[in-house]
Amino acid sequence: MMAQMPTIGIFDSGLGGLSVLREIRAQLPYAPLLYFADQAHVPYGPRALDEVRAFSEEITRFLLSNGAQGIVVACNTASAAALHFLRERFPGVPFVGMEPAVKPAAEQTRTRVVGVLATPATFQGALYASVLERFAQGVTVLQDTCPGLVGQIERGALQDAETRRILETALFPMLERGIDTVVLGCTHYPFVIPLIRQIVGDAVRVIDPAPAVARQVRRVFASDTTDGWGREVAPIQYYTSGDPATFSALVSRLGVEAGVVRAVRWEQGRLYEKGYVVAEGK
Ligand code: DGL
Repeated sequence: MMAQMPTIGIFDSGLGGLSVLREIRAQLPYAPLLYFADQAHVPYGPRALDEVRAFSEEITRFLLSNGAQGIVVACNTASAAALHFLRERFPGVPFVGMEPAVKPAAEQTRTRVVGVLATPATFQGALYASVLERFAQGVTVLQDTCPGLVGQIERGALQDAETRRILETALFPMLERGIDTVVLGCTHYPFVIPLIRQIVGDAVRVIDPAPAVARQVRRVFASDTTDGWGREVAPIQYYTSGDPATFSALVSRLGVEAGVVRAVRWEQGRLYEKGYVVAEGK
């Protein structure tokens, strides 16, 4: 008898991790998925790393207590703040995290100039410094924090004038300096790839790390004995610390698979389910 596919808990400050979830769903369709959006605290990017670490610890505890057997930190900011800590704090739990995809960018660039879009906390973390040190020798790496962009995406404003202004402010100076590659170092940003494409044109490579992260998830969580043949695909279980009806509407607006959405509230640093469910099934 084949072993059951493990339940995977995925979290982010908000909607961004859905760009990773949809790739995991495509590559591991039989894995039961729990997704936590900490919309009470989005954006994480301008916060102190300690604070993001505390959120990440409690969200991990919450997901594990709701059946997750492994965790995907589908957020560059939370990975920068907490991945190392989480592995020590929850020994025996497999974690997959994220780091800006500077390595493939440095391998593929011809102009030797690449752009990275990520949050201030991601750029401040030791993880990013180590990525630059290991992979960006001889490459000029230009950075921008795209202030306000996460908020725009959380509102579902994927194409409006303000979103365009934020992206043009980041990308025009990079284009002038000769970038041929843009790394999306925040999981929210793949949702504005069509707009980024309009701004940078077809000659610039845009790296969305989600497919590579999903392959890593597959390596860590799946094996020959967890083949899903003949199994049912369970609906995705979503949790949000924001408003579940709004979350549900945005999931559909982003073109991501619907699921059951549960409301969760923070109380003195702990998470509790509110028992408020808005959408059933797929
Ligand atoms: N999606 C997140 C990331 O990958 C966090 C964005 C934010 O909340 O600032 O960094």
